[in-house]
Amino acid sequence: MSTLSNKRIIVGITGGIAAYKSAEIVRRLQDRGAEVQVVMTPSAEEFIRPLTLQALSGYPVHADLLDPEAEAGMGHIELARWADLLLIAPATADFVASMVHGRGNSLLNAIYLATPARIAVAPAMNQGMWSHPATSDNMQTLKQRQVMIFGPDSGIQACGDIGEGRMQQPDTIVDQVANCFETGQLSGKKVVITAGPTREAIDPVRYISNHSSGKMGYSLAAAAVEAGAQVTIISGPVSLTPPDRCTVIPAVSAAEMHNAALAACVDADIFIASAAVADYRPVNVAEQKIKKSADSIELKLEKNPDIVSAVAENFSDLFVVGFAAETQDIETYARDKLVRKKLDAIVANDVSRTDVGFNSDDNEAWWITADSCQAFSKRSKTQLARDIIDAISKQIAR
Ligand code: C5P
Repeated sequence: MSTLSNKRIIVGITGGIAAYKSAEIVRRLQDRGAEVQVVMTPSAEEFIRPLTLQALSGYPVHADLLDPEAEAGMGHIELARWADLLLIAPATADFVASMVHGRGNSLLNAIYLATPARIAVAPAMNQGMWSHPATSDNMQTLKQRQVMIFGPDSGIQACGDIGEGRMQQPDTIVDQVANCFETGQLSGKKVVITAGPTREAIDPVRYISNHSSGKMGYSLAAAAVEAGAQVTIISGPVSLTPPDRCTVIPAVSAAEMHNAALAACVDADIFIASAAVADYRPVNVAEQKIKKSADSIELKLEKNPDIVSAVAENFSDLFVVGFAAETQDIETYARDKLVRKKLDAIVANDVSRTDVGFNSDDNEAWWITADSCQAFSKRSKTQLARDIIDAISKQIAR
C-alpha cells in the first residue's frame, strides 16, 4: 500500500450531501501517514459540523477568509504554501465554476488560487448538473490547468436520480491521492544526495560549521522517492527525520562526506550536491579541549576537498547537479560554477534574503544548464524539490 508519510494535505469541503464522507477521507489519509488540515466553505458547514473535522484532523478547521484571529495563526497564504496537495472533496458544481473563474471569495477559493501544491477535485453533484455542458466545459478547463479529477461514480443519488455524479468512495479517493505522489519518472534510477552542513572539528568539543538545516536535501530525497528512485542521503548533522524508503549514511566532516559520496556513486545514476560543505577545516585538531588561557589563539585552516567536483571528475556518466548560494549576479556566478565543477545542472539561489533559503521552509531558485535557465518562483522546499526532480528527469530523458 502506498504511503503518504511526510505529506501535508488540505481537504477542502464544499457544500454537498457527500460532505459526510469527507470525515472518512480525513481519517483514511491520516491512516496512510498524511498530516491533514481541513478548510470548509460556509455552505459545507450546513452538511457536516466543523467540530467533527477538528477532532479528526487535530487542527482547528479553517473556514473564514476574513477572520483576523485565524489569519494571525496560519493565514491563507501560509496554508496554501503548507500543503503538498489540495484535495477538494466533495467539489460542487458551483465550486468548480468558481475555480474556473478564479474567484477568491472564500478561504478555500483563495487557497486554490495561491497554492503551489498539486490540486485534485472529487466532484459530487446531481447527474443532470454533471452532464450539463457548462460543467463539462469547466471540468475540461480544470484538467487543462493540471487539476486532477477523481471520479465521479455512477449510481443512485441522494436525490433519488440514477446516473453519474456521485462522489467516489473515500478509499478510492485516497488511493488516487497516494498514486499521484508516485510519479515513477525516476523508477530504476539510483540517486545520491548530500545534505545538511558539515562540522570541522577544532578540538573534541568545538567545531566550524554553518546554518544549513538540510531541509532542501531531505525534500529532494522525498521527491526522488516519490518519483520511484532508490535514494541514498549522505547527511551532515541535522535534526530532520529522513523520508521513508531512503538509505541514510551519516557524515560529520567534509572528508567523511567526500569518502561516502565517492563510495555511494559507484552504481548511481544521479548525484545531487545540496550539502553546505565547510570550505575549510582546521589543519590540526587538538586532542584535548583547548584551554582558555591565552588572550588570542590562531587557527590555521586548510581547504576541504570539493565533493561535487570529485564526483563529476570520477564518474563521467553520472548526471551531476550542484547548488550555488549567491548574493549577487546569481546567473553569472552559477554558470561559472557549472563549468568549473563540470556539472550537468546547477540550482542557484539568493542567500542574501531572509525569507527563503537557509533555515527557511521556502526557497526560490533558478535551474541552470549549459543551454537553459528556468526560474522557480518562491515556493515550499517540498514543491521546489519536486520541480527540481522533474527537471532532472526531463533532462536525463533527452
Ligand atoms: O563552491 P561552492 O561551495 O559555492 O559550491 C556549491 C556547490 O558545491 C554545492 O552543490 C555544494 O554541495 C558543492 N560543494 C561540495 N564540496 C565542497 C564545497 C561545495 O560538494 N567542498
